[in-house]
Amino acid sequence: MTVRALGRTSLAALIVVTFAAGAHAQNVDLVNRGRAAFQHTCAPCHGVGAGDDGRAMLPGSQSLKLKYKGEKSPFLEDRSDLPSAVLHTFVRRGTWSMPGFRKTEVTDADIEAIAAYLDQSSKRPKGAPGTER
Ligand code: HEC
Repeated sequence: MTVRALGRTSLAALIVVTFAAGAHAQNVDLVNRGRAAFQHTCAPCHGVGAGDDGRAMLPGSQSLKLKYKGEKSPFLEDRSDLPSAVLHTFVRRGTWSMPGFRKTEVTDADIEAIAAYLDQSSKRPKGAPGTER
């Protein structure tokens, strides 16, 4: 390989690395926005922990526990089967006692971000420190 060809190769490698780093940063940003939106809008019903009405679980988690009877986790943050298209349907239409949300409350971009967050949160090891459970 000539020096010149080598230079071109490393330039190409540098470009690839730069793009990959950019995509990673974008993804982290999306996941962080999704986490914030989830905590604000969804966690009051779908979070982990007891309800402030003295019930053992929050209403969304409780309903999903009854629905799936142990087949799936009652917590959305454990679920890897909720891509944005699925979330869209539930979030816009609502289901049972879950209200539908308007675009002024939860934007399409929020739903994308929440989907990215749930995808990431479902992959984390259960009970790992710093995972809020
Ligand atoms: C007022 C409480 C409440 C809020 C707020 C809420 N949910 Fe729900 N959610 C529920 C209940 C109750 C169910 C119904 C479970 C059932 O089918 O029995 C549900 C069901 C769902 C389901 C269906 C899951 C399945 O497998 O059937 C998805 C997805 C979902 N919620 C996503 C969200 C997202 C995303 C948000 C935030 C934008 C949100 N929810 C906010 C109460 C809530």
